[in-house]
Amino acid sequence: MSNNQVTMDKIVNLCKSRGIIFPGSEIYGGMGNTWDYGPIGVEIKNNIKKCWWKKFVQESENSYGVDAAILMNARVWDASGHTASFSDPKMDCKECKTRHRADNLIEAHSKGTVNADLLSNEEMEQYIKDNNVCCPRCGKSNFTPIRQFNLMFETSRGVTEEGQNKIYLRPETAQGEFVNFLNVQRTTRAKVPFGIAQIGKAFRNEVTPGNFIFRTIEFEQMEHQFFCKEGQDQEYYEIYKNLAWEFLKSIGIDESHIRFKDHDKLAHYAKAACDIQYQFPIGWSELNGIHNRTNYDLSRHQEYSGKSMLYVDPFTNEKYIPYVIEYSIGADRLMLAVLSEAYEEETLENGETRQVMHFHPAIAAYKVAVLPLQKNLSEKAREVQKMLAKRFMVTYDEAGSIGKRYRRQDEIGTPYSVTIDFDTMENDTVTVRDRDTMEQIRIKISELSDYIAEKIAY
Ligand code: GAP
Repeated sequence: MSNNQVTMDKIVNLCKSRGIIFPGSEIYGGMGNTWDYGPIGVEIKNNIKKCWWKKFVQESENSYGVDAAILMNARVWDASGHTASFSDPKMDCKECKTRHRADNLIEAHSKGTVNADLLSNEEMEQYIKDNNVCCPRCGKSNFTPIRQFNLMFETSRGVTEEGQNKIYLRPETAQGEFVNFLNVQRTTRAKVPFGIAQIGKAFRNEVTPGNFIFRTIEFEQMEHQFFCKEGQDQEYYEIYKNLAWEFLKSIGIDESHIRFKDHDKLAHYAKAACDIQYQFPIGWSELNGIHNRTNYDLSRHQEYSGKSMLYVDPFTNEKYIPYVIEYSIGADRLMLAVLSEAYEEETLENGETRQVMHFHPAIAAYKVAVLPLQKNLSEKAREVQKMLAKRFMVTYDEAGSIGKRYRRQDEIGTPYSVTIDFDTMENDTVTVRDRDTMEQIRIKISELSDYIAEKIAY
């Protein structure tokens, strides 16, 4: 709503106090940059994932879902290039022993005017020396040379010490879509162009994780690979840029808070790549990526697995390896955007301030709160709660004044609050309060469920 009021501290505090997100392993002093979703947070994140799946699978004529294993044959990561080059340039501060990404140090020091992606390791070391770039922790400038640091988490598979094989926690979900390309195509009888979508966990041993859930070592991705014929790839690249943009708008992200950013440097196999950036409390940063990956991924899997990845066109009998347009977005990073977008401290007519989360109703954890005006109305209120719970996530609150209860719902973004009062007992009607306008209407209990369903439809 009003991005200039939002700070990361406010979001983190609200999340902790309202059961949205807690620090991971908190009672043991935490575990750097891991976060646990609480009762409200898990609902919001599930709703984000449901909306994404609805747009990119359910409402798509030619996209199919998969849920591939997190642990994959280690050769997958040789084929994808991750074992060789999924790494960040890291330096250690010799004074305070903290580890940093050289590219981040340079970008922070130059206030974003230098794009470190375009510099070699030697050029980065030189820049840091010439400009006396300091350690953000201790303020000294005394770093080790840059070393490339692979971001994949390793683990091992095997029952005996000697027979252990090194395997990895997947650093992206995409490869589970590529390796199943022909399985999906054959079983669904899909014809190119078509898409494969997946939502799942990914893991990266990030050198400098941080900024709450923006960059973590364990996170969820929502990825969509669209397989098409060479020659149609740029057209679909543009289509997916547009779909990605429209999806963000559809869940309540204001267009003035997002922008496209073309990549300055393309991977050697990529034909085009851009991000959609969001105006986070930390500044404009990547929210999702859209890439034209050519036929690189499938070709590499064909080469490394020895299995043909050729698609045979059923009309022309032409055989080819399709091009891929990839659209990838982090569910947790989108959650942070959604939280930032929804946050408002609103000054009311009486001078008081209310903290309100203006979530899109499809995203809100609870769709409706049931509030008996007094405790002796609780039996009727519980009946209404039970009826609504058949269709929606509902919460119930009878503690404190009705004003305080409305505020509690505003803080977690419940779009509708239903009050059971003495008239309810007379004529089976209730009041429904709208979170954003705070206006109330009176409606029959028999119409309540359909009324809410219509209001929250996505
Ligand atoms: N398969 C392509 C791929 O993984 P990426 O740009 O590395 O591309 C895609 O990641 C998206 O995943 C990012 O735009 C971001 O939303 C999310 N993401 C990546 N690393 C993340 C991290 N460490 N923590 C949270 N989200 C992350």
